[in-house]
Amino acid sequence: MNCKLTIQESDARIPQSKIAGVYDLNAPVYDIWGTLTESNARQRAIDLAGITDGLNILEVAVGTGLAFHEIVKRNPNGSNTGIDLSEGMLSRARKRLQGVGMANYTLSIASALDLPVKSSSVDILFNNYMFDLMTPENIDRALEEFKRVLKLGGRLVLVNMTKGEKHGSCIYERIYRMFPALMGGCRGVVLSGSLELQGFTVVSREYYQQMLFPSEVVMATKAA
Ligand SMILES: C[S@@+](CC[C@H](N)C(=O)[O-])C[C@H]1O[C@@H](n2cnc3c(N)ncnc32)[C@H](O)[C@@H]1O
Repeated sequence: MNCKLTIQESDARIPQSKIAGVYDLNAPVYDIWGTLTESNARQRAIDLAGITDGLNILEVAVGTGLAFHEIVKRNPNGSNTGIDLSEGMLSRARKRLQGVGMANYTLSIASALDLPVKSSSVDILFNNYMFDLMTPENIDRALEEFKRVLKLGGRLVLVNMTKGEKHGSCIYERIYRMFPALMGGCRGVVLSGSLELQGFTVVSREYYQQMLFPSEVVMATKAA
């Protein structure tokens, strides 16, 4: 059963200027949420990306490193860059990566809207649960940046909170309506249309639901 409540994509309630503060506060408990409701989709994205060792990989909005530590393990001789707006989230990612015991990565503060990365240099760009908290204008701006930094034929692998397609998923839209900060500012989005408009080729879109929480896993490539 589809979710009948539909929050519009224009309804992003936490401005980018407040995101770092919100996630600094959420950081101590984020992994509980991120594991219980998002781990299946996040793992699928990593598997789908087809990482082979030696690539130049960028993860934007790396958070506490739930995906990044797995990416670094699969790309030990490549280059792995993680960026995020929140120092609270990044400091947890740094602790998590100490356990991996490799030095071929960097973690730093930067914005998806202005990536400190050379044009046409990235083989795979990961981005999990970020577009669902952005305005349509910032979604387009971040996608332009993603397209700029990816190599031709490079892969973009995204996970977003999406619109519910199965029974029970509406509960998260209800919570967002009342307490957007409790949802980290995230509401359901469907990104394939924006990707195509920006000139990406969408290769696949899969729907996942975990603890009733609806996610999409999207794989796209940068076309000529
Ligand atoms: C819901 S969390 C997801 C964290 C991580 N990707 C994961 O899946 O566990 C959203 C993250 O996006 C980051 N974020 C939001 N807007 C951003 C931007 N413009 N540039 C970089 N990071 C951003 C937040 O700081 C936060 O860490």
